[in-house]
Amino acid sequence: MTDYRRLRVALLGAGSVGSQVASLLRQHADELADRAGARLELVGIAVRDVDAPRDAELPRELLTTDADALIVGSDIVIELMGGIEPARTYLLQAINSGADVVTANKALLATHGPELFDAADQVGAEVYYEAAAAGAIPIIRPLRDSLAGDRVQRIMGIVNGTTNYILDRMDTEGAEFADVLADAQRLGYAEADPTADVEGYDAAQKAAILASLAFHTTVPLDTVHREGITGIDKSTMDAARHAGYVIKLLAVCERLSGDDGESISVRVYPALIDRAHPLASVHGANNAVFVQAEAAGNLMFYGAGAGGVQTASAVLGDVVSAARRHIAGGVGVGESTLANLPIVPVGRVTTRYQITLEVDDRPGVLATVAGILSEGRVSIATLEQTVVGDGADGSGVARLVIGTHKALEQDLSETVDRLAASGVVERVVSVLRVEGD
Ligand code: NDP
Ligand code: HSE
Repeated sequence: MTDYRRLRVALLGAGSVGSQVASLLRQHADELADRAGARLELVGIAVRDVDAPRDAELPRELLTTDADALIVGSDIVIELMGGIEPARTYLLQAINSGADVVTANKALLATHGPELFDAADQVGAEVYYEAAAAGAIPIIRPLRDSLAGDRVQRIMGIVNGTTNYILDRMDTEGAEFADVLADAQRLGYAEADPTADVEGYDAAQKAAILASLAFHTTVPLDTVHREGITGIDKSTMDAARHAGYVIKLLAVCERLSGDDGESISVRVYPALIDRAHPLASVHGANNAVFVQAEAAGNLMFYGAGAGGVQTASAVLGDVVSAARRHIAGGVGVGESTLANLPIVPVGRVTTRYQITLEVDDRPGVLATVAGILSEGRVSIATLEQTVVGDGADGSGVARLVIGTHKALEQDLSETVDRLAASGVVERVVSVLRVEGD
């Protein structure tokens, strides 16, 4: 056995991901040492409760509630606790004591990433976070390193496993939202507070991280437009299916060109995707990220976006990279925010839409609806009418499904408000963007 230098590895957190990281670190210790060129010695695992049941069998003597003591003297600190505090403080403490750090904590990176990167730059340390976006899928390194010589134009991805799992089961099985959310929690996909998943916060954090890297721009979380999937019910799902679409929660990050120069848009929302589109066949908790780059063209990254052992793979890749860097020496690469492009609000983005309305089924109504769309600069691409029942006053009710050409979000939203107030629209059933052209 080669007599490698030993690197002390501290692990903070032994939940869904952390317990698998600890288990794999121990199970593959010899192989990882050969790959890293150093023996990765797991010196301890910080948790809240040393007696709590664990997903993987871990030696009791490694568990501690004293994270501070563990960090001191460690070469690599892996943070898998989640949340902002105390994770932020522990990571800064680790960086300032000379350790390289590995984290999967997108909530922390999306809010305090610049602070961590600056702290690492100051001391020549490195922050690794491959697992923070799209779980097991290698996407951070491709954006940071492989595409560093190209210009990314657009990223469109399914980056939240929990919501994809929920939407997929609602679509394929006609399942109810609440039942499938409970399954996603049981399977370890969901965040500690699943609101982060279903309201799109988790996807927005990942979108901010991906856009920052892709466009060399600091993307504050509050500049990411965010909508979740809690408004998607069975009838919206059925209507999407009927129209040949599937609903996916998408993160869209794009470079825009205008008279004022370049800007970027970063947004997360449920959108309709044509069933023939490759993203439509991303099932279960899988994620997929499309990257369009100027020279490289279209690239697609696909795989497990959540899950303890799958995410542990990305974390361990980072640990090996950190160990190699530790052995080789040299300063960290750092994050590039040189471009710092302006970030436009969602109102200035153009997309296609599908508007579903319930209207009075009487002469002139269609003309009124078409007139309002036209006044609002929203051009109709397709229109389907179905008689669905009787209105409260005894008149008929028709369902109109209107597909639009590309329209400015601000125009569209004002037009929908005018439709709702027009007196001929009984109910705006749904307004969904159509993505994937
Ligand atoms: P869990 O909630 O399953 O585990 C969190 C762990 O951190 C637990 O072991 C907990 O201890 C420990 N912990 C929490 N707070 C403290 C504290 N103050 N001091 C010491 N220990 C603490 O989280 P996950 O494993 O699911 O996620 C970890 C990170 O990975 C998160 O940032 C998450 O967003 C990210 N991630 C998760 C994925 C997934 O599929 N689960 C995928 C990609 C990223 P105890 O067990 O004693 O309560
Ligand atoms: N809760 C997250 C998801 C975990 O469902 O995708 C992976 O980041």
